Amino acid sequence: MNQAPTASYLELFAAEVRTGLSLPGQKELPSKYFYDELGSALFEAITMLPEYGLTRASERLLQAHAEEIVADLHSPLVVELGCGTGKRTRSLLEALTRRLPVTYCPIEISGAALARCELEIGQVRGVTVVGYEEPYLDGLRAALPAERPDSNPALVLFLGSSVGNFDRPAADEFLRQIRALMRPGDALLLETDLVKPTEQLLSAYADPIGLTAAFNLNLLARLNRELGADFDLSQFEHLARYNPQHGRIEMHLRSRIEQRVHIPAAQIEVSFAAGETIWTENSHKYRPEDLDPMARRTGFAPRARWTDESWPFAQNLWGVDP
Ligand code: AVJ
Repeated sequence: MNQAPTASYLELFAAEVRTGLSLPGQKELPSKYFYDELGSALFEAITMLPEYGLTRASERLLQAHAEEIVADLHSPLVVELGCGTGKRTRSLLEALTRRLPVTYCPIEISGAALARCELEIGQVRGVTVVGYEEPYLDGLRAALPAERPDSNPALVLFLGSSVGNFDRPAADEFLRQIRALMRPGDALLLETDLVKPTEQLLSAYADPIGLTAAFNLNLLARLNRELGADFDLSQFEHLARYNPQHGRIEMHLRSRIEQRVHIPAAQIEVSFAAGETIWTENSHKYRPEDLDPMARRTGFAPRARWTDESWPFAQNLWGVDP
């Protein structure tokens, strides 16, 4: 955040932390809270790691297929869920504005990332940027009002495989909610990371220079900064493991010792056994044959799929039929 977090935001943050850390079994924290100003910068650094091929695969696909993606869209409203710094979206918008002016609505929970995205995309001629510092669906509801003109179909972008943060039933539910805000003629460009050798995934999520560990631990640092918690970060360690049954990378923070932590703003005191973990993120990986069925059962019509060969990764263009 570039400004002080607002009171209502802090209340929700505190309530979600309280719920997640009070669970009787596995403790959890929501992964959306990774992205404060420092967390967004750490993620940006992760995307440059040689081991983390995901973002480069996304950029290659966006560059290679920009023309095909926008071919059927006239004067569209481009809405992006989680724009980050906007770097990768720039080439797509440039392809669009070669033909017509575009309105671009980035939706981003991190105010700092949103500000950078607005700066980056603001430089592209022919693009009007209207940003929303909101969670995904609140932003989407604001960006796609029911009464928008028929002449402006929407292209919704959900890039970088962030859909993988949802477990599979929740991803379906989320896609259905997106679909409910769209109408015939609109399209969704959904990127999904694909299943690949476990070793390759583990080195992407437990990288040798410790950037992902810092990204993960920053969540506890954030609880200290914003909720007055007293986590001793040296007593927690980053853990990434592949769950083959669910086809996902799971990230945890493991307590090295038995300890108690106070979180005043959440009005809780939490005890950890030695070796106990907080589950902080899921990153689901998809099989190519799962993608078209996922489109159909959530109300979309699969139109095209492009995959990157050097880092197995898919870009899916789904339409909304009348
Ligand atoms: C931004 C959610 C796509 O799951 O790969 C990177 C976040 N976590 N390294 C991902 C992340 C650990 C990333 N997403």
